[in-house]
Amino acid sequence: MRLDRCFNIEDLRQAAKRRLPHGLFAFIDRATEDDLARDRNREGFRSLRLLPRTLVDVAERSTEALLFGHRHAMPLAVAPAGPAGLFWYKGEAALARAAAAARVPFTISTYSTTEMAEIAESGAAIWQQLYLWNDRSLTDAIVARARELEFQALIVTVDTPVLGQREYLQRDRFMPPWGPSLGAMAEATLHPRWLLGVALRYLANGGLPRVVNMPLPGPDAAAQAEMARRTGLSQSVTWDDIARLRQAWPRALVIKGILRPEEAERAVALGCDGIVVSNHGGRNLDSAASPIDLLPSMVAAVGGRATVLLDSGVRRGSDILKALALGASGVLVGRAPLYGVAAGGEAGALHALELLRSELDRTMALTGCRKLDEIGADLIATPLAGERQP
Ligand SMILES: Cc1cc2nc3c(=O)[nH]c(=O)nc-3n(C[C@H](O)[C@H](O)[C@H](O)COP(=O)(O)O)c2cc1C
Repeated sequence: MRLDRCFNIEDLRQAAKRRLPHGLFAFIDRATEDDLARDRNREGFRSLRLLPRTLVDVAERSTEALLFGHRHAMPLAVAPAGPAGLFWYKGEAALARAAAAARVPFTISTYSTTEMAEIAESGAAIWQQLYLWNDRSLTDAIVARARELEFQALIVTVDTPVLGQREYLQRDRFMPPWGPSLGAMAEATLHPRWLLGVALRYLANGGLPRVVNMPLPGPDAAAQAEMARRTGLSQSVTWDDIARLRQAWPRALVIKGILRPEEAERAVALGCDGIVVSNHGGRNLDSAASPIDLLPSMVAAVGGRATVLLDSGVRRGSDILKALALGASGVLVGRAPLYGVAAGGEAGALHALELLRSELDRTMALTGCRKLDEIGADLIATPLAGERQP
């Protein structure tokens, strides 16, 4: 499907589905177990209704936003997504260039397959995401590098002591490390544009991408097992880690993946500059509550002392407006730009971001808002007496 025939994020999703082998598409699109949290994230946004303000002169509008002291074209950042490089040849760099063109921040994943400095060359405002590994010296090295490169924010993901249960990946035999299996090879041949344009292009240029933050293990099995242990997700991340990172990181420090007001308060007390209210796009705990439902309580707990961002389920510009109406300063988008990059590389990712910006702008006009600070809680309809519940 041509990009100019993709009129919304769902169209880009369908285009991505056609291009990618089944397992890779599922890796973006699905979540964990029964996909309850993923679906509920969408339901949360869908069930919110807006009360538009009318008779407001909205001829002049701006979606510009200030996040951590920096101005961006809209209140949105591209969320971290480890394997973006598998969806398009050098897909991470493509996504970062799209973010630069759209004037929004790009978040580099700890599992990035592209060097941090190379991504920074895109010219995008860069945020660095951090998972803590068993060997903290390896993750400290990422922080030091991000500091050297003067990235704007460090986003510490705290909702992943273990990965979510993703049975579909096991069924498809599509599990990291992304080694070839017969099934995967058969799927690849059924998707020649991906096979030629991504997989074979990598193979012709030195091999499939690897996680650049993981040092190469020695050749023998014992060395490989030791490296796997050192780079395993730490199951022992605590507030002490956050306090330590606060000492090590001079710029905006943000905790991603909390849903409880008392944790929001503690993050602020420890000196964090922001939180991302997130259930990881439903990819970890399948019965997790939805960030959009919890947002008001999280905003109240933070009480204006830090920046509240939200992710999980944003697919429309109206979703962004709803999050802002409920008190967020901005959103992260994970799958939306990934569908775009898988459908059409940098142009596809940029198309996704532009769709979201123009939808936000249109929703602002339709609700009587000229600037982001005019988006308020009064725009959210509460059920009135006699009104049919959705
Ligand atoms: C393919 C994929 C890979 C992801 N990898 C990471 C990651 O490396 N680090 C992280 O903190 N979150 C990761 N996430 C979660 C996103 O950053 C974000 O929280 C989530 O996608 C938001 O939900 P949405 O996809 O509905 O927008 C990933 C999400 C996807 C879809």
